[in-house]
Amino acid sequence: MTRQIRKKASMAQIIPVSTFDGVVFGATGDLTLRKLMPALYRRLRDGQIPPDSRLIGAARSDLSSEDYANTVLEHLRKHIKGDEWQEETVSQFRSMLHYRHVDGKSGDGFEALATLLDEQPDRIRVYYMATAPALYGDTCENLEKAGLVTEQSRVVLEKPIGQDLDSSRAINDAVGKIFAERQIYRIDHFLGKETVQNLIALRFANSIFERLWNADNIDHVQITVSETVGVEERAGYYDGSGAMRDMIQNHLLQLLCVLAMEPPVSLEADGLRDEKLKVLRALKPLAEHEVALSTVRGQYGKGAIQGRAVNSYVDEVGHPTTTETFVALKAEVRSWRWAGVPFYMRTGKRLPQKVSEVVIQFKHVPYSIFPSDSTELQANRLVIRLQPDEGMRLVTMQKDPGPGGLRLRPARLNISFEEAFGMRYPDAYERLLMDTVRGNPSLFMRRDEVEAAWIWSDPILEAWRNSTEGPRMYPAGSWGPTASIALIERDGRTWHEDWQDP
Ligand code: BG6
Repeated sequence: MTRQIRKKASMAQIIPVSTFDGVVFGATGDLTLRKLMPALYRRLRDGQIPPDSRLIGAARSDLSSEDYANTVLEHLRKHIKGDEWQEETVSQFRSMLHYRHVDGKSGDGFEALATLLDEQPDRIRVYYMATAPALYGDTCENLEKAGLVTEQSRVVLEKPIGQDLDSSRAINDAVGKIFAERQIYRIDHFLGKETVQNLIALRFANSIFERLWNADNIDHVQITVSETVGVEERAGYYDGSGAMRDMIQNHLLQLLCVLAMEPPVSLEADGLRDEKLKVLRALKPLAEHEVALSTVRGQYGKGAIQGRAVNSYVDEVGHPTTTETFVALKAEVRSWRWAGVPFYMRTGKRLPQKVSEVVIQFKHVPYSIFPSDSTELQANRLVIRLQPDEGMRLVTMQKDPGPGGLRLRPARLNISFEEAFGMRYPDAYERLLMDTVRGNPSLFMRRDEVEAAWIWSDPILEAWRNSTEGPRMYPAGSWGPTASIALIERDGRTWHEDWQDP
């Protein structure tokens, strides 16, 4: 059986996309060099990108195409390891790289960009905005003025789109004046993760789970996305954003949507997005007085991560700041399916481990027939590891073997995706970048979804702004402020912390 599964997995299909021109605004930034370029290299190496496609970096630095290619390759070396690095592919990749010096705001340099792009007027064009969101509108307008917006063009917008509902509307309006909604791809790279898509498979391709997936059977849900990294060279962006806008408003809410949505009519783009939108709209708004009870924000101080001493957030950004690097909160979805089931979410930088995990905590059996000294009867728990050690564990109660009466012991049903499928998981950006070329928007956020997520997040941000208390400090390397533990323990529950459990 396992062999059959392996055989199928190794036959993962690489369907080449059409030849395209990709233009990345913000071409010298962290996202482009650390994520987008390595993802494009890998897709070229697997034969998915036709080598006559062009990858055009666009930014304000005055660089030649040669300089830019050197910079990209220097970074590629850090991210592409072992036999993934193939000299022939690297030189092919290099020959696809171009650079144009442009200013998205003033429009300087767009003519030179147009001269290059107009060599191939009918090609699919993907304009990727890896810049500050405040520049999206002007950049799109300048693209149009330079005659660069064709039927075959799409624009990709990085999150967070705006700082709040109003600024997000303004950006969406500005971009929407130039591009039709079907040409706009709002990326949330969590949706491109294989394990997040697998949540859809788990829920809707298995009859056993979906029947239990409701308030009758589930006590609560936990979503944890923890990181060991600090903000380092991203401080400029991060300090104006914080964990709420950087992670909760998009990644964690999108995970919540996939976990909580009703079965979509189909996997067509709007099928999924309609259902996700309903979840966002069903989120119970938090009134100002509830924010203090249902949310905790924190900021890391000095500490140690895996034995290495690290600086405080304030030291990293270089000035006093109340930006939160940690958020824990309790959300509720007002629907028949989820009435009374809390969704606890937490995310933070400089936590002890990098892990993204979902825990579905089932309810206890209604009545225990086992003597109370036969070990504590634990409720079933489904732990889904999105990264790393991708897999799933279902904690069940079993008879402890041997004499001595009917004693119970927790034991788990365990699937390691690596053992089951034995293949590298492509980075989320690989899949999503190819979807933009293919013109498949299903794993991208629609405008109404982004706005619904802001409608729920804004009052929390507002209450924090109005509060006289700043974020609570936590030492780097801990699981966040103790108040985040109190948040869940007040409800008689605890955060799941050990993948090795039970
Ligand atoms: C990004 C955030 O969207 O996601 C980062 O801006 C965060 O702050 C990153 O580190 C986490 O993504 P991943 O794929 O490493 O879990």
